[in-house]
Amino acid sequence: MKTTSGVAARFISFEGVDGCGKSTVMDQMSAWLQAEGIPHIRTREPGGTVLGEKIRALLLDPSHGDMHPRSEVLLYTASRAQLAAQVIQPALAEGRWVLSDRYTDATLAYQGYGRGMDRHALRRIQDWATGGLQPHHTVLLDCDLRVAFQRMEAREGAPDRMEQEQESFHRRVREGYLQLAAAEPERFFILDAGKPLAEVLDSFRDNFWLPLLGRIRREAG
Ligand SMILES: Nc1ncnc2c1ncn2[C@@H]1O[C@H](COP(=O)(O)OP(=O)(O)O)[C@@H](O)[C@H]1O
Ligand SMILES: [Mg+2]
Repeated sequence: MKTTSGVAARFISFEGVDGCGKSTVMDQMSAWLQAEGIPHIRTREPGGTVLGEKIRALLLDPSHGDMHPRSEVLLYTASRAQLAAQVIQPALAEGRWVLSDRYTDATLAYQGYGRGMDRHALRRIQDWATGGLQPHHTVLLDCDLRVAFQRMEAREGAPDRMEQEQESFHRRVREGYLQLAAAEPERFFILDAGKPLAEVLDSFRDNFWLPLLGRIRREAG
């Protein structure tokens, strides 16, 4: 009998506006996987490779306020191309699960819905850059923007370039994420992240993790 560590590795991305709780929920997921003995890695976007971390610094630098939206897309996407090829694809091939803090949906939400760029073009660029590598599951953390901002304020540090955007921009991003989720209900799991943490984690466990665990145990036979 195979163990759950022998099942086909899953690629799971976590999406949502900053401050909604992605890192917190990923910590929990990582702990559950570890408890099951399921090998996995965590990556972040932009970044996750040596090249990607350098691109991340360029993107988040507040002095690059004049960055053209197309440059922005290509830098994010360059970081993602490197991550997909150098980290995600090899990990999955070795049977390790991948938890990614953001992926292609972030470009659709931020640059497509947020900045109003051509979403059809953005999708084609994403497909090309990632070689079509898509997450098996995407956990979308959705919460009121004011709640997310309050959580961000409680965190240390000056706002980065993306955080300095207007509230209307973040509202379009949130709505965009919800539209992406509605268009692909099988891939997306929407987590109501506005509630107290214990409730958010209970809901994540009951409605995402336990059903997934049930499926992989059946696969493992
Ligand atoms: N459901 C929640 N209720 C209250 N605080 C939360 C909740 N989820 C996360 N936090 C806190 O809010 C802040 C932002 O969460 P984090 O996981 O870092 O968000 P993200 O990674 O999406 O930016 C952190 O300080 C975290 O401890
Ligand atoms: Mg985070």
